[in-house]
Amino acid sequence: MDYNKLFAEEIVKNTDGALSLESIMGLVEKPKFDGQGDLAFPCFSLAKIHGKAPHLIAGELAGRIKHTVFENIVAVGPYVNCFLKKSVVSKDTLQTILEERAAYGVSDIGQGRNITIDFSSPNIAKPFSMGHLRSTVIGNSLAKIVEKVGYKAVGINHLGDWGTQFGKLIVAYKKWGDDAAVKENPIPELLALYIKFHEEAKDDPGLEDDARKWFWQLENGDLEAEELWTWFKDESLKEFSKIYELLEVDFDSYAGEAFYNDKMAATIELLKSKELLTESQGAEVVDLTEEGLPPFLIRKSDGATLYGTRDLTAALYRKENYHFAKSLYVVGQEQTLHFRQLKLVLKKMGYDWSDNMEHIPFGFILKDGKKMSTRKGKVVLLDQVLKDVIELAEKNIEERNPALANKAETARMVGVGAVIFHDLKTERQNNVEFSLEAMLRFEGTTGPYVQYTHARACSILRKSGMTAEEITAVGLDDSYSWEVIKDLIAFPEMIQKSFEQSEPSVIARYAIELAQDFNKYYSHVKVLEDDEHLEGRLALVFSVTVVLKESLRLLGIHAPDEM
Ligand code: ARG
Repeated sequence: MDYNKLFAEEIVKNTDGALSLESIMGLVEKPKFDGQGDLAFPCFSLAKIHGKAPHLIAGELAGRIKHTVFENIVAVGPYVNCFLKKSVVSKDTLQTILEERAAYGVSDIGQGRNITIDFSSPNIAKPFSMGHLRSTVIGNSLAKIVEKVGYKAVGINHLGDWGTQFGKLIVAYKKWGDDAAVKENPIPELLALYIKFHEEAKDDPGLEDDARKWFWQLENGDLEAEELWTWFKDESLKEFSKIYELLEVDFDSYAGEAFYNDKMAATIELLKSKELLTESQGAEVVDLTEEGLPPFLIRKSDGATLYGTRDLTAALYRKENYHFAKSLYVVGQEQTLHFRQLKLVLKKMGYDWSDNMEHIPFGFILKDGKKMSTRKGKVVLLDQVLKDVIELAEKNIEERNPALANKAETARMVGVGAVIFHDLKTERQNNVEFSLEAMLRFEGTTGPYVQYTHARACSILRKSGMTAEEITAVGLDDSYSWEVIKDLIAFPEMIQKSFEQSEPSVIARYAIELAQDFNKYYSHVKVLEDDEHLEGRLALVFSVTVVLKESLRLLGIHAPDEM
């Protein structure tokens, strides 16, 4: 039940429609201080309309509003404050969650329309970077969040598998490469070759010409070039899929940059026909001077296409094939200019749907305050990092609960969950400090803390000997349960907020708050005492398991029943 709305409706009824329901709902807030009620409506707008002092309006309005769900309505200065009737509201909320279970919080904002989410998108023959990890976990969570509000998510891994760098790589491999070494250790070997190319090219500029030639051959269907490229790509994908498996992330499409190879000519023709292509130093560009931005590069002087050419073609392809209502690009903030340009070019082409494309930027992962880099061959192998966390989690579990049945599987859920949660609890635009030790703590704002709270609630239910089907919600009116109930009521609103802001951290922080309030409740209230409120308390515990589990699911994290 949306109590904000109910309160707003009552205000509408009692103010002769001076303000719309929507504007009132936008004004309803939480009272500033504890003990002043659950909802507050500021009367300043009404005061303006009626030319009366706000506190007078508040006094009159408070006297008029009555509803069975409201315990009390009082004027506090210029505010009308509402105290919800705890017993009615708690029973109602618990009943709803008992019935709806994992569907609690679902809405139909999306009406089944598509949202494409371009995420992860690592580069072939290069290590899967920390930036790609962030994109992967944020994008994966956004996919679940948009589905919860009624959209269909189309996850796209726009692999970086095309571009002049493959010309360089082919040259380097043909000159210095070793077949067996690449097979043995593909990504570090290919990266080393790429780095060697740049070092050697300083003294031997002819190499750059060779590389351009090889990329030209690749773009024009040369067999040898294509064979090498395919091999590099397959080896890289094998490595990437290890990470996706551990994270349990999948995609609806792996159409990367190369996928658009045979579709770019049409894009260029289209730009020409719209008279948007201009020449600049031998290259073809879309001029964006009017928009105050540098030109968007479409084709180099040697005829080679670019990253932007492929993104432009991909946007057209996605619109045509997925008819997206929205199109999200979960890509680091260093590409902000690129996405601004991309949208403007589409706008200039006359496509207003470009307004529905949204770059979802995020900050860096830092180690000791510094950017974790993959430069100079210093490779952080991500699947190794994940394996280390899982091992640490296993040790942790061994100490706490050596008798646990499926330790290895639980360790995986906890270890991986810790990494994901650590990333998602921070607002995505901020940087994240990477610390295995901090992630895995069972106290504080961590994934394991939320998981542990969930497991604890599950164990209380097991002890009660009752199943959810047997529990009937009973109203509760003590202050500890009320804190939990208010959190439970807020869940649908949190989902909507995280959707509107494309911000999984809203849900991560919400889960922490719910876990904290539940732990407080648990330490003050004897849940299993046999009295007339027993079923109400069990309904509350059950509801907490449902909402914590669902919150974690929306972040891409498992909630084991025992740990
Ligand atoms: N492969 C790119 C990189 O690693 C990210 C691609 C993002 N998606 C896109 N459609 N441009 O920087």
